[in-house]
Amino acid sequence: MKLLIALSVLVAAVSAGTQPLVEVMPYQDLEGRITNGEVASDAQFPYQAALRLGMEGGYAFCGGSILSDEWILTAAHCTDVAHNVTVTVGVTKLSGENEKFEQKIFVTSKNIIVHEGWNPSTLTNDIALIRLSAKIQFNEHTEPAVLPKNNDGDYVGDLVWASGWGKDSDSATAVSPVLRYIEVPVLKPQTCSTYYLGVITEKMICISTKGHKSTCNGDSGGPLVLKQDDQNILIGATSFGIALGCEKGWPGVFTRVPAYLDWIHAKTGLK
Ligand SMILES: *[C@@H]1O[C@H](CO)[C@@H](O)[C@H](O)[C@H]1NC(C)=O
Repeated sequence: MKLLIALSVLVAAVSAGTQPLVEVMPYQDLEGRITNGEVASDAQFPYQAALRLGMEGGYAFCGGSILSDEWILTAAHCTDVAHNVTVTVGVTKLSGENEKFEQKIFVTSKNIIVHEGWNPSTLTNDIALIRLSAKIQFNEHTEPAVLPKNNDGDYVGDLVWASGWGKDSDSATAVSPVLRYIEVPVLKPQTCSTYYLGVITEKMICISTKGHKSTCNGDSGGPLVLKQDDQNILIGATSFGIALGCEKGWPGVFTRVPAYLDWIHAKTGLK
């Protein structure tokens, strides 16, 4: 699905002066997906939500993470101009047919909280919350992710999981009908900054996309999770990449969820 919000940042690529400008865009604006990922099995990512966003001129697709039976965390660039959103949980296939564990909840924009500091030109504070109008029922297919306890960890080198229905290759033209995932290491912020000069802040977290494994546009807002002691710890929300394509090996960039614990607590009461 083509994006309607035209958000972009021009960033001069590092070194040599002669390198071309690289266009950095939120994934929703790209022709993107989890590229070269694996297909998720049922109930493998029970905290994953699918968002269908109604906006001027049509619909956009994004991912989200279940925080509790009434809160979904996603990206600001998914929701800032949405009029309404249909949240689907408990599925891995977007077949359109009702699946056994599928739960769908419709909310209007008054239930969407976009971060007050969201800045589409710098892509900072790309985080939003959706308050559900009906409670999610939890079961083995639907479960919340856990918020990190604090913002002390840098997660560098940790293997983490990103999942989404974004397109599954640079040549795909629509979102993937099946949920896909990648397991990749967290990159050093300094390394990430050499790709996105002047763009990466301490409130972002980057993953290595070597081997053409990456997140891409329909994945926007979706989870980045550290699996530890049987817990799914939510450390990121898919934010942006580069417009050149998602299989180019540039790091995928996420909103660093632990940097927003106070904000999430203030809005939701969740810890
Ligand atoms: C959701 O928003 C879209 C875009 O404004 C609109 O066309 C659609 O009718 C809305 N859906 C409902 C159920 O109100």
